Amino acid sequence: MPRQRRSPATPRAKRTPVSRSHDPQAAADTPDREPPSNQGLRRILVPQPPIPTGASPSPSPAHTLEAVCERLRADLRAARFKLPVPPRTAAQVLQACRREQSGARDVAEIMHRDPPLAAHVLRLANSAAYAGHGEIVTLPQAIARLGLGTVAELATAAVLRSSLGVSPRYMAEVEDVWRHSCMAAGWAREVARHRRCNVEGAFLAGLMHEVGRPLVLQAIAEIEDAAGRLFDAALVHEAADRLHAEAGAALAAAWSLPEWIGVAIAWHHAPESAPEPRDLPRTVAMADRLAGWTLSRPRPGIDVLIGEPVAVALNLYPEDLESLGERLDGVVATAEVVA
Ligand SMILES: [Fe+2]
Repeated sequence: MPRQRRSPATPRAKRTPVSRSHDPQAAADTPDREPPSNQGLRRILVPQPPIPTGASPSPSPAHTLEAVCERLRADLRAARFKLPVPPRTAAQVLQACRREQSGARDVAEIMHRDPPLAAHVLRLANSAAYAGHGEIVTLPQAIARLGLGTVAELATAAVLRSSLGVSPRYMAEVEDVWRHSCMAAGWAREVARHRRCNVEGAFLAGLMHEVGRPLVLQAIAEIEDAAGRLFDAALVHEAADRLHAEAGAALAAAWSLPEWIGVAIAWHHAPESAPEPRDLPRTVAMADRLAGWTLSRPRPGIDVLIGEPVAVALNLYPEDLESLGERLDGVVATAEVVA
């Protein structure tokens, strides 16, 4: 997600393909192909020969866009970049939900240690989106109603939400990112469902695809604090545009999330450059477009997405988009609940 959502009618993917090394926009969209020094990230990004040192630009002043990006990228690849630690309870819930032998009672037992998370799940179980007959008052009942998959989604959202601490200076941007990400998660699930692919994996990847943006904003805030000056807003947002995919992939690796999630995060702006299989990066890229479309005001018809390269890559024909468009209300309701 960029600082201002791009119009679905003019996506970056419609740019004329050019050599990546000469296309600053593409550079902003994709992780640099230089192999990172940290191992988890190295597996996610496709290794390429390092850029010859002789090709480096001349030294820049410390606070130019290039210098800030260079510093942050170097920190990322040397594993010096500060990454949040997932809250223990929520991470345990997530793991328990993924264990095949886990039951609602096991998950409830862990969740009781995290009252805000437990309260959130109970509230959701009784919300209009999931309400059945009668009020749910215990966690096992709530989990039985929602299903372990949904509880895992909520736990993931809770992990992310509580981990994305950021300077108050950039709080508004992070709120926008979160709203967009919840919407993208819902759309990723619908796109995957429509294409009969892994629904839960798509939701998770959609939820996390922009997770690097708050991390970059926080790193910039710390540089600003140390320097005793604020950067130009355009510089801050351009740096976040350039680095958020790689920062998000670094977080996925640091949290030992499955590699395919890291790949989807790393390549969500350039799914055709992702290592195979590209299905999930494409799904997340499509969800990113759909979330942008959903949140745009005024919102055009979904037919503005017809012919998007990523829609074509996913074999989404106009009737498929129309069918997806019919799920708009459900996606919005889910995003509101998860957020
Ligand atoms: Fe993005």
